[in-house]
Amino acid sequence: LSKMDLSSRPKLFDFHGVAMIPIFTANWENVQNFQARPDDILIATYPKAGTTWVSQILDLLYFGKTSPERLTSLPIYERVPFLEMTIPNLVSGKDQADKLPTTPRLIKSHFPVQFVPKSFWEQNCRMIYVARNAKDNMVSYYHFDCMNNVQPAAGDWNSFFQRFMEGDMVFGSWYDHVTNWWKKTQTHSNIHYMFYEDMIEDTGREIEKLCSFIGLSPSAEEKEMIRTGVQFDNMKKNKMANYSTLPVMDFKVSPFMRKGKVGDWKNYFTVAQNEEFDADYKRKMKDPALHFRCEL
Ligand code: PPS
Repeated sequence: LSKMDLSSRPKLFDFHGVAMIPIFTANWENVQNFQARPDDILIATYPKAGTTWVSQILDLLYFGKTSPERLTSLPIYERVPFLEMTIPNLVSGKDQADKLPTTPRLIKSHFPVQFVPKSFWEQNCRMIYVARNAKDNMVSYYHFDCMNNVQPAAGDWNSFFQRFMEGDMVFGSWYDHVTNWWKKTQTHSNIHYMFYEDMIEDTGREIEKLCSFIGLSPSAEEKEMIRTGVQFDNMKKNKMANYSTLPVMDFKVSPFMRKGKVGDWKNYFTVAQNEEFDADYKRKMKDPALHFRCEL
């Protein structure tokens, strides 16, 4: 760990068949040995699919009434630890999760499904997977790699575009990630698979579905407060949800809460890129049941 060099942008390397960087693999043994509890909730996503949005909703649903001070005094990355994150001299996500005082514990991970520590399966924990259409996911990831100094350099848009299709991104291929988590829902009823686009279309409806999945029945008033509280503009202003307190991110390059839209890819994909992308997508994504919307 101490050998980890954070003075320059990290390079991707192959880790059990998935492109990764050291801050997410250096604590591998400890992370794999994480002891989940039956009521833990894992929030799993490919990066930039809506993790923070769903994390804030769940935290509000569970603790908005009982410990509102948590929500106003702790940044989202302390309320919902990022399990595999390990930055030298900072407490690891795994240690943070171990020490979380809440019940349930909300835990974030970007792991592809085959990397999830086995105790989550043994304890039959509930998992919430958020997926976002590949084009917007790619554009969001591009801006993130531009602004986040612990991520690999984004390079120019065209090379990023090619690398995304090749799966040469931190946490690997988007195509494999969303597909393999989707397949897992067929054998695990404890996974709630949701879509960023559905949340944009009707946040209230998606909060409703989340509530029935986790077995909470907040009042109509409470649900409405949460729905309003997590609207993009409100979360963008919220210092405890917008990552503005994390020094590794350069908001002058791009804010974490960037646009929050469906269809922003149209401002980045050229016509030729779009054709190339669609042809490649058809070859990779064969399951008609897993359907994404790139516009609303
Ligand atoms: S991370 O770093 O992987 O945890 O990022 P993640 O939170 O998964 O994704 C960030 C993108 O989600 C958008 N976002 C939202 N959209 C709509 N409404 C709300 N409340 C919201 N909160 C976060 C955020 O703006 C990033 O998307 P882009 O397209 O870059 O704006």
